[in-house]
Amino acid sequence: NIKGIIFDLDGVICSTDEYHYQAWKSIADDEGIYFDRKINERLRGVSRAESLEIILERAAAVYSPEEKAALMEKKNNIYRELLKNMGPGDVTEEVRSTLRELKERGYGLAIGSSSKNTRFILERTALTDAFDGISDGNMISRSKPDPEVFIKAAGILGLKNEECFVIEDAISGINAANAAGFHSVGIGPAAECDEAEFKISFFSEILDI
Ligand code: G6P
Ligand code: MG
Repeated sequence: NIKGIIFDLDGVICSTDEYHYQAWKSIADDEGIYFDRKINERLRGVSRAESLEIILERAAAVYSPEEKAALMEKKNNIYRELLKNMGPGDVTEEVRSTLRELKERGYGLAIGSSSKNTRFILERTALTDAFDGISDGNMISRSKPDPEVFIKAAGILGLKNEECFVIEDAISGINAANAAGFHSVGIGPAAECDEAEFKISFFSEILDI
């Protein structure tokens, strides 16, 4: 008996995953570290700090905590500049009308994203009001595959975990959802993994599950 739907943001609601890639790519190039789109797949759903650790696996040098903090800040500044290009047109009509329809059907709708830029992105794309609750990277101490961000989202909706779908493009997010008894729905890369309870190939298919 599903009463709520928790959406990942990057790669599900909008395509900021490409901006994350470009920003990290620019950092890696500056540092002379090899980085490509395949490695980038491992950053889906993973926090900024853990993303940097994955990139630094291929670094020749050892980075101090201060140097890591500086790289994260630099990455975020590049990323935020890229986000300024975003507007309402960066969310498809399919996503908007599906969210409207789900709301009309009475579901509680929430965001469950590891991103600390969640609110900024929702404002830029004029989506803040589409959700009843927002659980984001500023509210958690452990990122996906830990389920903390989804548990917080269900709490905001006032629902039990097992009453919610979690829509995810990241395998880390599917694992997070499964770990805490949510019903996981994979889209994009996460629709390829065995762990996803449901798999959809386009967003509006949520209406048919
Ligand atoms: C999302 C993305 C990750 C990103 C994380 C943190 O989960 O899928 O790739 O690293 O958010 O984003 P932030 O905006 O806080 O750097
Ligand atoms: Mg994602």
